Amino acid sequence: TNTNAVRIVEVGPRDGLQNFPRTVPTAVKIELIRRLYAANVRTIELTSVVSPKAIPQLADCRQVLADPKVGRFLEDRSLRLPVLVPNLRGLNIAVEHRVKEVAVFVSASEGFSRANTNCTVEEGLQRAEAVARQALTQGLQVRGYVSSIFACPYDGPTPPDAVLHCVKRLLDAGCYEVSLGDTLGVGVAAKTRALVRYLLAAGIPASSLAGHFHDTYGQAVANVWAAYECGLRVFDSSIAGLGGCPYAPGAKGNVATEDLVYLFHQAGVTTGVNLDALVETGVWVSNTLSRENESRAGKALAVK
Ligand code: HMG
Ligand code: MG
Repeated sequence: TNTNAVRIVEVGPRDGLQNFPRTVPTAVKIELIRRLYAANVRTIELTSVVSPKAIPQLADCRQVLADPKVGRFLEDRSLRLPVLVPNLRGLNIAVEHRVKEVAVFVSASEGFSRANTNCTVEEGLQRAEAVARQALTQGLQVRGYVSSIFACPYDGPTPPDAVLHCVKRLLDAGCYEVSLGDTLGVGVAAKTRALVRYLLAAGIPASSLAGHFHDTYGQAVANVWAAYECGLRVFDSSIAGLGGCPYAPGAKGNVATEDLVYLFHQAGVTTGVNLDALVETGVWVSNTLSRENESRAGKALAVK
């Protein structure tokens, strides 16, 4: 294996769309997944199976998963297609649709945990552990998220040991990897380096961590690079910089997938992704949703 390669986890169909203000037709969601696949993205978070009151935009998750094209992707063992689930109910619905991988999520801070999942951090960890246990028993793979790694919209700065505690619990629960979520997008490179070094020094292997940076202050690409230099090789991103969470007011989208792929390819780091096809997909989804394309590389390359 090429130690210089990174894996891109495209979260556009889930994080990217979950807070979009107008209802996106199911067919557009499916076409987005198809185009990402055609651009050779091999890990795509398809949707979430959560309370439709919490996230009305993804209330059509069953229709997305039941689509025959998506069904064919779900049969393809060379792809990772996680679905975000908050509880056993979500897991069961995912399994009914032949999903092979789920993502569980907790917050390192109490305020965001309460707002996002209506429970304490400890209750959230126990819920995630129960989902992971059941999913592993049923032969699924489980990915984990820890939110609010630098700061919480309600509680202010997050102590690094709160992040470490959640990472350990999720790895012990059998998550093959835990994604570090800067939900608010307030991190900067120096803070990213300090947090990742802290986790590595505590014995967390770099190979079990991923980076998930929102781009509120325009620092997400720098944060990715800082984490890469610390040894991380998996990064979450969203096509055209879509994304945000209704319980993190003011936060912007995820780092744009086009920007990440451009960054890594220019550094000689393999992603496996076809950048031209990705750029076209970013232009397509931005036009289709009548929104600004938030990928700088995507916009620059589109006019070339
Ligand atoms: P609750 O109200 O405490 O629990 O919500 P509940 O069990 O009473 O359920 C409330 C309603 O949702 C009920 O419906 C349930 O049936 C239904 P009602 O009886 O009122 O009509 N329900 C479900 N429906 C479909 N699928 C399910 C499901 N579970 C319950 N799985 C709960 C607790 C966790 C369910 C709720 O708070 C929830 O769904 N939260 C998810 C919020 C969310 O999706 N946030 C965004 C994703 S996380 C994120 O963006 C951060 C991340 O990107 C990383 C980062 O950036 O940091 C991952
Ligand atoms: Mg997110």
